[in-house]
Amino acid sequence: MSGTYEARFRIWRGDKGGGDLGDYKVAVNEGEVVLDIVHRIQATQAPDLAVRWNCKAGKCGSCSAEINGHPRLMCMTRMSVFDESETITLTPLRAFPVIRDLVTDVSFNYEKAREVPSFVPPEGVGPGEYRMAQLDVERSQEFRKCIECFLCQDTCHVVRDHEENKTAFAGPRFLMRVAELDMHPLDAASEAGLDRKRTAQEDHGLGYCNITKCCTEVCPEGIKITDNALIPLKERAVDRKYDPLVWLGNKIRRRGEEAG
Ligand code: SF4
Ligand code: SF4
Ligand code: FES
Repeated sequence: MSGTYEARFRIWRGDKGGGDLGDYKVAVNEGEVVLDIVHRIQATQAPDLAVRWNCKAGKCGSCSAEINGHPRLMCMTRMSVFDESETITLTPLRAFPVIRDLVTDVSFNYEKAREVPSFVPPEGVGPGEYRMAQLDVERSQEFRKCIECFLCQDTCHVVRDHEENKTAFAGPRFLMRVAELDMHPLDAASEAGLDRKRTAQEDHGLGYCNITKCCTEVCPEGIKITDNALIPLKERAVDRKYDPLVWLGNKIRRRGEEAG
């Protein structure tokens, strides 16, 4: 692509009551991204077009939308990836309720975030005294790159096509958070009586994930959600289940409950 050309856009306009795709013809300049074009449409043709954005640098995670059906950040999608003759369709994230136009209500994700118990500081170790192997630091740092764009949450088929699963399933972003804490060598959750592997299965729906890796494919930060968080968490949860000591402990606990 070089110079200016006129592109055709179809953008979903509406609210929770319903809506439709609107057609726009708009100028595109060299080097622009999809969000630039949305801003030009707002400035010249549709001042009431609702869109959420903040940084325009792939860091705030707020400009998530579906571009030709693919969950992506509008500010990080270059116009040069499309053919000049192509009609580009923009729709809001499908897994969350629409507020208006391209803006969705992502509060499902904040509710799920609140359900994950935070890091439990180890007893007797003060701030500044924490010591960890570099390997463990790097593991956490990969997951900490998350910008909370919720593209992974939007693309995961467990909730994308099954609204009814939302209660029982935290989604890849928050299962990754559980995995991060469960791998953390200084997290004292188990000493505090919190079994993160058990909660991953029973409270956050780890069993619903069938490791299709679709979440990993859409992550703009390139986090290997499935390989580095979800699969290891599944392995650790299974190890726990088949650990003979855990099995014996559960059996004794169940017997105690029955007797009580
Ligand atoms: S790997 Fe698991 S969490 Fe990720 S999209 Fe597939 S089912 Fe969903
Ligand atoms: S894990 Fe990746 S796709 Fe999911 S919310 Fe974080 S940055 Fe976005
Ligand atoms: S505007 Fe911040 S990630 Fe796109």
